[in-house]
Amino acid sequence: MTTVFVPKEVAEREARVAATPETVKRLIKLGLKVIVEPGAGAGSKLSDEEYASAGAELGVAWDADIVTKVNPPQEVDGKHEADLLKKGGLLVGLIWSVSDPALAKRLADNGTSVIAMEAIPRISRAQKMDVLSSQANLAGYKAVIMGANALTRIMPMMVTAAGTIKPARVVIMGAGVAGLQAIATAKRLGAIVEATDIRPEVKEQVESLGGKFIETVEASGEGGYAKELTAEQKKRQQEIIESHLTAADMVVCTALIPGRPAPLLVPAHVVEKMRPGAVIVDLAVSQGGNCELSEPGTVEKHGVTIIGEPNVPATLSTDASAVYARNVLALLMDVVDKKDEAKIKLNLEDEVIDKSLIIQDGTIRHQRTKEAVEGLEEKT
Ligand code: NAI
Repeated sequence: MTTVFVPKEVAEREARVAATPETVKRLIKLGLKVIVEPGAGAGSKLSDEEYASAGAELGVAWDADIVTKVNPPQEVDGKHEADLLKKGGLLVGLIWSVSDPALAKRLADNGTSVIAMEAIPRISRAQKMDVLSSQANLAGYKAVIMGANALTRIMPMMVTAAGTIKPARVVIMGAGVAGLQAIATAKRLGAIVEATDIRPEVKEQVESLGGKFIETVEASGEGGYAKELTAEQKKRQQEIIESHLTAADMVVCTALIPGRPAPLLVPAHVVEKMRPGAVIVDLAVSQGGNCELSEPGTVEKHGVTIIGEPNVPATLSTDASAVYARNVLALLMDVVDKKDEAKIKLNLEDEVIDKSLIIQDGTIRHQRTKEAVEGLEEKT
């Protein structure tokens, strides 16, 4: 019988889990045997009893045929999770192999197959497996809530007997999945919302959510993503956005470029000119940040509070796990053959599998990961 193991995530600040009792039931229906590590759901408020009632066995089984995780394998108590995986087994999770080639090499040396959830192509058919979107969506929402909580002002306009209170002004940098959700959330709270992006096609999306689009420069890259701006474009963008940033009460930074450090959009000299008590929430902090002064955690610089929580989805663990687990379930439904004893069938003609199966039985298939590992070997 094909087995699936769901370990407890051990990464710092992590509270999510890769399967919930809801998805465990569905995995069992597919013909899989599911083993869940005791306490795996605790951070998401899911008890061992709920997993057991859903049909899971409680235990530790790193040698299962499939291991589903949220974070990349890491060292725990002197042992590396990657080394515990079964040769010929399948690991499914966020791997970030291009930025961690040493891990990719370790997994390959172990003879494992790996599906990296971040490598799933963002095509319509794979939307239900898109963990980048499911998690970014929640992060965009929470960024505004965290920002609102740190403000010494309210978000909506309020007409009171003591006079009218002006609405807060919010500027969203980057209107991808997180940015659009941040616009919607800030609008719902009653703020005046402006947003900017370098992909011109998002203007309409921003406006449909009630935001005002700040047009700067255009730089669309491959696959619907942004590309890095030229020095000239950066200068022009800065000139246009500065006055919007210095008039804002809250700035939510979400701008990313795949495979590159986050673009610098809020330099230190602009923070200095911002309103006293303004708040910046930098969702890009793990990629270096969009704000020059952001760092992991919360800091105050020049009277501005800068929030750089590195793992925002984990602060909404119940919902983040629910959607992450459904993304993984959708992927496994394509990988497991229900009609043939739930055996793993990796169909490389399926674009989703072809692109996301970064390692197959110890061979690295993903070009950028391969290049990163070769770069690592040249250095040693
Ligand atoms: P992301 O997380 O890579 O970047 C966030 C936003 O920052 C993007 O909108 C990007 O254009 C913007 N940005 C980058 N550099 C910037 C700069 N210098 N100044 C201002 N803004 C900057 O993007 P995300 O949220 O992952 O979305 C990327 C694309 O994927 C979008 O086109 C989105 O529509 C598409 N997508 C497609 C899906 C599908 O069809 N299945 C699902 C989800 C997203």
